Amino acid sequence: MSLQQNCPVPYKKKVRLSRHTTFGIGGPAQFWAEPGDVSALSDLVRWCRTRRMRIRVIGAGSNILVADRGVKGFVVKLNAPCFCGIARVNGRVIAGAGAPLARLIAFCAGAGLSGAEFLHGIPGTVGGAVVGNAGSGTLSIGDLVEFVVVMDYNGKISKLEAKDIGFSYRRSGLDNVIVLQACMRLSVCAPSVIRRRIAQYARMRRLTQGSGWRSAGCCFKNPGSESAGRLIDACGLKGSRCGRAVVSRIHANFILNDGRAAASDVRRLMRRITSAVKKKFGIRLEPEIRIWQ
Ligand code: EPU
Repeated sequence: MSLQQNCPVPYKKKVRLSRHTTFGIGGPAQFWAEPGDVSALSDLVRWCRTRRMRIRVIGAGSNILVADRGVKGFVVKLNAPCFCGIARVNGRVIAGAGAPLARLIAFCAGAGLSGAEFLHGIPGTVGGAVVGNAGSGTLSIGDLVEFVVVMDYNGKISKLEAKDIGFSYRRSGLDNVIVLQACMRLSVCAPSVIRRRIAQYARMRRLTQGSGWRSAGCCFKNPGSESAGRLIDACGLKGSRCGRAVVSRIHANFILNDGRAAASDVRRLMRRITSAVKKKFGIRLEPEIRIWQ
């Protein structure tokens, strides 16, 4: 394939995704690109489409498990400044897909806009959080979203209102488009109050989930009103390991990379967990993390 001559954007080959995931796990992306603006992204999308080449967008890599042999096609990172802006428009915040959630939360606190505090501690980007409807407890980012701007795989840009996005628990109808921006509705509040709430979330997370480990957050979705963590814990699986992948002793829904874990170690541990929970409780756990293979 004479990719070098024809590709409309600069790209790299064989980029190790373990460097781009919070798990620190994953083989290479066949091709890696960081388009400089929306028009470069649209050119790349259309170019890949005519070649039937897959494009995946990576955010902070905080909710994915990449196969050890890597992935074919392009992995695209929206980290150019035009994808990462955050602006206040009346009582709303418009944020680029590539903006880290931590920056969104700091921006909202400084601007005296409340409602996004529960996202504190989720190591994702706005785009990834919206696609996965990330959240904490009963709150999800989809509850804040007014509209998103997306690009389809023909390079066409459109605006989707929240009611047309199909947000549900850790899901959205955005799996087949590229999120470019999200507009969120927040409420006015004193920055000091917002900062106090953020500190409470931070404390709660540290206590219940620990910190400092390489992981992809909760591995499984909560089944109904049950906690997957509680079920896994009740199966006695805390500390259980496959190779260098280990079930956290603090929160059993977290699998940690204890050194140089392979994706296959994590997959084996996930299978052990699902079969133990099925056997003991008759409940089939569904992965929350996305598997790239
Ligand atoms: N529990 C245990 N053992 C464990 C873990 C939890 O007994 O190992 C019990 C807790 O004591 C508590 C109940 O299970 O009584 C619920 O636990 P927790 O409050 O930690 O909430 P969760 O349902 O396990 C959800 C989200 C987390 C989010 C927390 C914050 C999912 C799958 N998980 O966890 O999100 O941070 O609420 O309240 O929805 C993520 O999505 O990656 C994630 C970590």
